[in-house]
Amino acid sequence: MEADVERVLIAEDVIEKRLDAMAREIRHDFPGEVIVVIVLLKGAFVFAADLLRRLPRMLEIECLNVASYHGGTESSGEVDFLDRKLPEVRGRRVLVLDDILDTGRTLAAVVERLAGEGAAEVRTGVLLAKDRVRAVEVEADYVGFEIGDEFVIGYGLDYQGRYRNLPYIGTLRREAM
Ligand code: XMP
Repeated sequence: MEADVERVLIAEDVIEKRLDAMAREIRHDFPGEVIVVIVLLKGAFVFAADLLRRLPRMLEIECLNVASYHGGTESSGEVDFLDRKLPEVRGRRVLVLDDILDTGRTLAAVVERLAGEGAAEVRTGVLLAKDRVRAVEVEADYVGFEIGDEFVIGYGLDYQGRYRNLPYIGTLRREAM
């Protein structure tokens, strides 16, 4: 698996330090209240697990299955909600966590959907934000790292379902695609 990595973009210890700072920011913005956290699967599960254990707040953690890549390296342009039922968010402050902000379609679709379900406020956090023009106008409230416009793997991010368990963010060798 490691042999398929072209280069390490963000090392594990750098991610850990950044998560400490993100958790502090979130703690500050949600003082003392119960937070409904919605983790977008599958990509955000590693990021969310590490971030949320740094948040000493009462959390109600929900997951939402959304798909936009369908396994490859290009966004399909469509966001599919794969769950039959959405978490109950009416009147609640919600924090949505995703792995990466790319075209922006996923986060925009999820925020719109939760707002439509009556959420009092929807804030968003992503581990990575690609430096590119978004297809839709959306930015995250909490961003771990800005990266260039390239396909990345590791720390939850996959190529055809693989590499999610790499403990760092890297790029994939062309021969492995
Ligand atoms: P959008 O384009 O909707 O993308 O902002 C968000 C979702 O697309 C996936 N994505 C990636 N997955 N490496 C990945 O493994 C990448 O470089 C990448 N860029 C986007 C991801 O699932 C994200 O939630």
